Amino acid sequence: MSSSKIKAASNASIAEAARLLADGQLVGVPTETVYGLAADATNPVAVRKIFQAKGRPANNPLIIHVDSPESARRWVHVDHPRWLADQWQRAAAFWPGPLTVVVPRSADVVDEVTAGAPTVAVRVPSHPVMRSLLAACEFPIAAPSANPSNYVSPTCAEHVRQGLGDEVAMILDGGECECGLESTIIRLQRDGVELLRPGGISVEQLQDAFGSVKLAQRAGKDDTVESKVGNNAPERSGPLEAMPAPGMLAKHYSPAKPLRVVAAWQAEEVDPSRVARIVFAPLPDCEAARFGWYRSLSRTGDLNEVAQHLFTAIRQADATECSLIVIDQCDRSGIGRAIMDRIDRASA
Ligand code: TXA
Ligand code: MG
Repeated sequence: MSSSKIKAASNASIAEAARLLADGQLVGVPTETVYGLAADATNPVAVRKIFQAKGRPANNPLIIHVDSPESARRWVHVDHPRWLADQWQRAAAFWPGPLTVVVPRSADVVDEVTAGAPTVAVRVPSHPVMRSLLAACEFPIAAPSANPSNYVSPTCAEHVRQGLGDEVAMILDGGECECGLESTIIRLQRDGVELLRPGGISVEQLQDAFGSVKLAQRAGKDDTVESKVGNNAPERSGPLEAMPAPGMLAKHYSPAKPLRVVAAWQAEEVDPSRVARIVFAPLPDCEAARFGWYRSLSRTGDLNEVAQHLFTAIRQADATECSLIVIDQCDRSGIGRAIMDRIDRASA
């Protein structure tokens, strides 16, 4: 059925994807971080389809993807004050790449994208297929991760098919994502930036570029809010309010099975033969053999490889007969911060 929707990236399939998007349809697209569920960001009807397809609350805004910092200008207000123009320049130096920037929006952005918030999240992706697609489109692309709401993000075309195959007109196959974790999200501030979600660009890189990085507090499930907005949320009755830093919900990206970091796992509680064990570097064979299922994310413990393969392994572990997923831990520095952030959320 929907497997025929996966098309290897080529000039012809990219042109077809651009046509489908222009026609108001949804397309699964590769980026260097994770796969996105794409729609024409200027078409409110198409954007609403994203929320329906994912089962995503209407007050959780979307990122818009553009092909250059220059083409972002129409959608953002970053010329004044002076500090904002300066911070925007610094952020743009990370593009194309896995950095998303939250800035004041222009009136041209459709309300469905921002969930009515006064800000918009923008990024210039680096994946060559996504870049060709953006070049072929006359509009920016709104795209959240292409997973049903609250499940693990997809890092290959097949993951998109499994989760949303019936919802998309086509899935553009650009291979396995290079980062494997979603983009870093920052909000620009006079004295530096606020980190809303750790990702492919590390806090250390941000510190070098911006001087100061404020680590935002993670919101709880029902936390409130910085802005009132006026669109209709089908799931809610009261007035809709945009989430504070919506990417920061504690529980997110979760597999169906419980997941625990290795330090928190008591072998007495769950027999190793019932455990799906994910490690960052190989265990000795005799030790690995104790587990019901076992996967090593890197031969050498390289954290970039761990990040790249993490979501695939969590999906695979989730599909086993085991009753618990137990996973390694690492220091929260460099890409390790984003890895542990996703593991924390998956185990919340
Ligand atoms: O790597 C990525 O960022 C991927 C690829 C497809 O680009 N996209 C992605 O989108 O992860 P999504 O929707 O799954 O996560 C974006 C996060 C959401 O948690 C959303 O709440 C937050 O960005 N966000 C979007 N607009 C925002 C805004 N104006 N202010 C604060 N947070 C915002
Ligand atoms: Mg997501």
